[in-house]
Amino acid sequence: MKRYSTLLISLLFGGMIVIWACKHQIPDPPIPNSNIPGQTGRACDSDSVYFANEILPLLKSTCATSGCHDAFTQKEGVQITSYATIIDYVVPSNANNSKLYEVITKTNKRMPPAPMAALTVAEIAKIKKWISQGAKDNACDHCDTLDYKFSTAVKPLLDLKCKGCHNPASLGGGIDLSTYAATKISASNGKLYGAVNWSTGFKAMPQNSAKMPSCEILQIKKWIDSGAPNN
Ligand code: HEC
Repeated sequence: MKRYSTLLISLLFGGMIVIWACKHQIPDPPIPNSNIPGQTGRACDSDSVYFANEILPLLKSTCATSGCHDAFTQKEGVQITSYATIIDYVVPSNANNSKLYEVITKTNKRMPPAPMAALTVAEIAKIKKWISQGAKDNACDHCDTLDYKFSTAVKPLLDLKCKGCHNPASLGGGIDLSTYAATKISASNGKLYGAVNWSTGFKAMPQNSAKMPSCEILQIKKWIDSGAPNN
């Protein structure tokens, strides 16, 4: 009998403690992942250049192509696939002493090599600014699904994440995404959305990279669903 009452009391006490604990438990806030654009919980500051948002996708699509500086080829021992491998060629806050900046700006043996197009003036300026700001491994959230125009939403994404592998000099899978007319073909035949959405039956793009943030995939989808206009 004594044993039963002890058991009863412990069960009662135990139960009360559990109820108390549940009532007082404050739910943990979601842990922001500081390095994944779209999941950082931090808005982008327009004066800063963010590595994960703007530099890594550009360098991966331009330099980490197959046969060049991807993890498999590592041409000349150089791998341009992550912050850890890229920072080897950067002197933070000093673009002019950074190998990365030197090779994209020099006229003799410039990177990416011809017949690939050189990085644009705006792209080079962005890399310089990122180095000048300390070459940090930073990321932020910036995406507005109300904007799904070709010129302001879709084209900037394709230029940043796809164009390096999908242009007339480098036609991955025979696909050109460097102009409106060429992009319209892949938008209309379903390949563009299938690839960025990682849909079954399509190659997952961008190749060898994480999936694009869902907000960006939605921008592309809304543009395609609205008839893929040149707006
Ligand atoms: C590092 C190079 C690289 C990057 C970056 C890249 N692609 Fe590709 N892409 C390829 C290659 C190579 C193929 C051909 C793949 C194959 O046949 O295995 C391809 C194939 C495709 C296809 C055809 C898919 C299919 O299933 O037929 C589409 C569409 C495509 N890419 C879109 C994109 C988009 C959109 C982006 C940017 C978000 C992108 N790619 C970024 C290299 C790349």
